[in-house]
Amino acid sequence: MCGIIGYIGPNDATPYLLEGLRRMEYRGYDSAGVALYNGTGLEIRRAAGKIAKLDAVLTAEPITGSPGIGHTRWATHGPPVERNAHPHMSGDGTVAVVHNGIIENSTVLRAALEGLGYVFKSDTDTEVLAHLIEELFEGRLEDAVVDALRRVEGTYGIAVISSKDPGKIVAARKGSPLLIGIGEGANFLASDASAILTHTRQVVYLNDGDVAVIEKDRYRVIDIDAQPQRRSVSRIEWDLSEIERGGYDHFMLKEIFEQPRSIENTMRGRLILEDGTAKLGGINLSHEQLMKIDNIVITACGTSWHSALIGELFLEELARIPTEVEYASEFRYRNPIVNERTLCIVISQSGETADTLAAMREAKRRGARTLGLVNVVGSTIAREDDGGVYLHAGPEIGVASTKAFTSQVIALALFTLKLARKRDLSVVRGREIAQALDALPALIEAALKGAPEVERIAEEFKDATNFLYLGRGYNFPAALEGALKLKEISYIHAEGYPAAEMKHGPIALIDEQMPVVFVAPHDSVFDKIVSNIQEVKARGGKTIVITSRDEPSLAGLMDHEIRIPETLDMLMPIVASVPLQLLAYYIAVKRGANVDQPRNLAKSVTVE
Ligand code: M6R
Repeated sequence: MCGIIGYIGPNDATPYLLEGLRRMEYRGYDSAGVALYNGTGLEIRRAAGKIAKLDAVLTAEPITGSPGIGHTRWATHGPPVERNAHPHMSGDGTVAVVHNGIIENSTVLRAALEGLGYVFKSDTDTEVLAHLIEELFEGRLEDAVVDALRRVEGTYGIAVISSKDPGKIVAARKGSPLLIGIGEGANFLASDASAILTHTRQVVYLNDGDVAVIEKDRYRVIDIDAQPQRRSVSRIEWDLSEIERGGYDHFMLKEIFEQPRSIENTMRGRLILEDGTAKLGGINLSHEQLMKIDNIVITACGTSWHSALIGELFLEELARIPTEVEYASEFRYRNPIVNERTLCIVISQSGETADTLAAMREAKRRGARTLGLVNVVGSTIAREDDGGVYLHAGPEIGVASTKAFTSQVIALALFTLKLARKRDLSVVRGREIAQALDALPALIEAALKGAPEVERIAEEFKDATNFLYLGRGYNFPAALEGALKLKEISYIHAEGYPAAEMKHGPIALIDEQMPVVFVAPHDSVFDKIVSNIQEVKARGGKTIVITSRDEPSLAGLMDHEIRIPETLDMLMPIVASVPLQLLAYYIAVKRGANVDQPRNLAKSVTVE
């Protein structure tokens, strides 16, 4: 959500902080700030808006020193104005805090601190932490932080510096990711590895409940009772080039075009063509355990929830296991039927989505085994699940998820193949699916060649105010995902619907102004969807039809046709995603929207 960066070392912290904030700007971008120890006291600079604004403030009024902490914000408490930007200072200016998450008892704490004479300058929940740490300070910053956190309810990733104990950054996490970057003669703190990758690849991921004391040449981790904790050092394996735009106008476009490679990477070394199955090293499920699964629950949010819907169809059709898809945000507030014979598949690009993490913990609490399908290596879900399948799609920076979605569907197909071959699926059918998966990167490549045509269509519809996306069977989730992409980045209202369900309500919306995108490849429900296209045409709607063959039955029904290559029905939503993503992208660009950083959204939603 928000981004945190910290530097402690022999150099001036400002350039490290700014560089880190720029790399994390995709995570939260409504305001930003830094605080440094300048040798005698703390100084802060903050600005509403993008990092460029903060940069300008720092150019006009430079500050130098070390340690330093910085933050890029996605507002929860209070509007995105300078006074609400982090860092927040304590009343006497000796403590500065940056914070991701939500302090749930901030109202009570604020009242108590006001009673002690503290004057609040912001609307944020975070400011209570700064005053509380000042109030509890008795000589060592980590003691005051631990003491303060014992009184706090909610979630946090925090970084704190103090002019009264200036040789350290104290960090703590509960529900919001943080890692220590180990440099040479200098150390770093970040909420996202991308922020420090130019300086070190050696990182220590903090766990919930950890408090880290980071000095320039050492660090230690303790828990909330001040007991020492051992944490291993991991190495970041991906490269900086993966988080740069590489000549594309936007990360989203780059990530759309990366899909032939990203899905190949998801499959690399995992497909066993001759046996028609998949090898998945990390699932930690024995043959017996796989055979014992009675039901599957898949939980996720947003785009990941859409891939889950496709996974449900895979698992029921091929592995014949009753499968349900649950919004992670709803899962733990009801009484789901989950027990030790349930497999809970948890899907998350970031591996940090608060709702998804909470759902996974709830499933575990009820005795289910959990399997995480996660893109970000070392993320919380990946570390807490019982087993997992990394997507290996590479870093996804655009807020609108694209390549992670297609890799999620691939990972679900691989897992289904493995499970189904153990249970119900013949080797012949298994081979057919494995071969179709193997051929998919080339088909995605071919679908991408349609980009110029999609761009022309985008030009025609860029001023539309509503869109309907319709699909059936495997392509209904694809329609949902197409609609989500469009609304996220273009701010056009869009709804996805099962095509046949349209006549039970949304058909009332159809008129000459309404573009309707049909995901209608030549699959087992093709003839059915043709009838739905006719229903729209009969009411004057404008049809954009994504299809895969010359079909006489479509003659006269398509105002615009987008042609995609054919594969098995079950894999068609992966191919169809390409024009859907491109259509959203080009429309948003033509409307002048900020595609990579759409308003109000954040890449990783770490609050409930
Ligand atoms: O990181 P996750 O996959 O858990 O994120 C879930 C959603 O927040 C995410 O998919 C969101 O809907 C994206 N912005 C979609 O483009």
